[in-house]
Amino acid sequence: MKFILIGLVILQCTISIYAAHSHSFLYYAEQVVEEEESFVTAFAEEDAADLNSDLFYYYVEQWPGSSCDTKKGCCYPTTGKPATNFSIHGLWPTLLNGTWPEYCNPNTLHDESKISDLIERLQSEWPTISCPSSNGSKFWKHEWEKHGTCSILDQYAYFESTLNIKDRVNFLQVLENAGIKPDGNVYEVGAIKEAIKAGVGVSPVIECNADASKVSQLYQIYICVHPNGKDIIECPTTLKRNCNTTVEFPPF
Ligand SMILES: *[C@@H]1O[C@H](CO)[C@@H](O)[C@H](O)[C@H]1NC(C)=O
Ligand SMILES: *[C@@H]1O[C@H](CO)[C@@H](O)[C@H](O)[C@H]1NC(C)=O
Ligand SMILES: *[C@@H]1O[C@H](CO)[C@@H](O)[C@H](O)[C@H]1NC(C)=O
Ligand SMILES: *[C@@H]1O[C@H](CO)[C@@H](O)[C@H](O)[C@H]1NC(C)=O
Repeated sequence: MKFILIGLVILQCTISIYAAHSHSFLYYAEQVVEEEESFVTAFAEEDAADLNSDLFYYYVEQWPGSSCDTKKGCCYPTTGKPATNFSIHGLWPTLLNGTWPEYCNPNTLHDESKISDLIERLQSEWPTISCPSSNGSKFWKHEWEKHGTCSILDQYAYFESTLNIKDRVNFLQVLENAGIKPDGNVYEVGAIKEAIKAGVGVSPVIECNADASKVSQLYQIYICVHPNGKDIIECPTTLKRNCNTTVEFPPF
């Protein structure tokens, strides 16, 4: 309910802007209304509508093959080579104005003993492939302290919710269903976005990086999540990430 009210206020403000400004500004204002409205809809469908928040999360997965073939390279975790699959990078709290709060609560330092029953899942779904080789503990600690402390979830819920989202979205399968495979070929970013929209139900943000020969490649996929950490929503704001119109999807 609160979100519908916010939506109405935004709509009203925009209507006054509409009355007061020139035609080109008007077009922009209309686009803003459209975006805000879709946000309101996404939240209105939600039971937890009274969550006090102008916050949502970006849920981000990375393709390990696109780190390993860079100039910098990668290092497999001490537990061995991860599955040939996308893996979790993080769940990143973001404000509706697009800014990202970080390190919000120095009093809730990472405590791995509180998530001991999640370690096996973390090792398989949220591995680190940065160098030097490590067991993941530092990566999870970093994600919790930098991002997790800015969520409205406690440490256990932060990790469990993120793992549960991973279980529900199978980006690799969804892409393969559209004929897009990690075979070193080049694909249209538009086709990648459409495949994810079709398979997961929401539009993703695609981030690219460059391989050692500077070819643009599929690096990370972002989708948006309600502050409750459970519901996948259309992104309420836009996010610009670098990408060529066609990208390589390297093997791993
Ligand atoms: C975004 O919103 C937050 C919280 O309301 C505020 O502190 C911050 O200054 C805003 N940033 C920008 C760039 O508008
Ligand atoms: C990872 O290694 C550190 C020591 O370097 C250790 O304290 C920690 O418990 C290990 N974590 C896991 C999940 O094995
Ligand atoms: C990849 O991860 C998804 C969960 O995101 C899982 O359902 C699927 O079985 C995994 N695929 C492979 C090939 O490991
Ligand atoms: C960007 O895409 C164009 C074709 O869409 C391709 O010719 C070019 O090589 C690509 N650039 C990079 C850096 O991958």
